[in-house]
Amino acid sequence: MSTWIKENCVSFFELFCIKVVKTGRIPQHIAFIMDGNRRFAKKHSVQSSTGHSRGFDKLSETLKWCLDLGIPEVTVYAFSIENFKRSKEEVNALMDLARDKFQRLLDEIHQINEWGVRLHVAGRLTLLPEDLRALVSRAMLATRHNNKLRLNIAYAYTACDEITRAASYVIAGVSSKELTPEDIDEDLISQTLDLSEPELLVRTSGEVRLSDFMLWQISNTVLYFSDVLWPEFTIWNLLAAIIHFQRHASEPTVLKDMSDRKLKFTENLEHRRWQELEKYIT
Ligand code: FPP
Ligand code: MG
Repeated sequence: MSTWIKENCVSFFELFCIKVVKTGRIPQHIAFIMDGNRRFAKKHSVQSSTGHSRGFDKLSETLKWCLDLGIPEVTVYAFSIENFKRSKEEVNALMDLARDKFQRLLDEIHQINEWGVRLHVAGRLTLLPEDLRALVSRAMLATRHNNKLRLNIAYAYTACDEITRAASYVIAGVSSKELTPEDIDEDLISQTLDLSEPELLVRTSGEVRLSDFMLWQISNTVLYFSDVLWPEFTIWNLLAAIIHFQRHASEPTVLKDMSDRKLKFTENLEHRRWQELEKYIT
């Protein structure tokens, strides 16, 4: 049994419906704001930590549906920098949940590699407890060569913080003469951010705010808001979101080629990010 990808959760009829939806255009990158875990917990008279744990189970089911749909990139908002302001008990419970799940990912690395899942934790990792930071770094390094499904987990993340970090990387690039001020354009900033543009963004639980999530990247994204609480999200909700995308999406954008200097800068930045992760695990 795999913890991160729930097996045997798709019936023959559901698979048939997936095949029908796949005759239309499928988003190549889908993002989720997984909201409503605590309301779910309250509704079922259980602790909020149980609600978050059920939220993780729903994520593992959703990842299987995305694999079956042939969606190559999924981004989820799992912990915002703002979430540090919640009660100490809840923050600790969320950190413990993450510790448990990332440890399981490492324990089940053969299965993860078989599924071809590449994990990327996006956010200000220095805000995390040292042991959790080491675990997520290990998980990223252990899955870096997989290419079937890229799973981005926004953790200790806000979009404003991501954009601020990108600005400081670019300024450092200009100071070190890796870049010239004329190199700074929208493509360069996009390539410097942690996350790439999703084609579809889904938020559950009836909230219609963006809550500081992927603000730069969603300028051309189809938005879908569902009233269902995240732990109650079903394959039918996902297929409804994809049909909504098929009705409203514009043509996919074609990325422009970057100059050699800008390419070198983004490659160096990527290299420095991996070096940073190696430092966290030692
Ligand atoms: C929002 O619901 C959800 C969160 C703040 C946490 C989401 C985390 C998970 C689904 C688990 C993921 C874990 C890993 C390790 C990837 P809420 O707490 O805001 O609920 P409410 O809106 O009903 O109050
Ligand atoms: Mg909420």
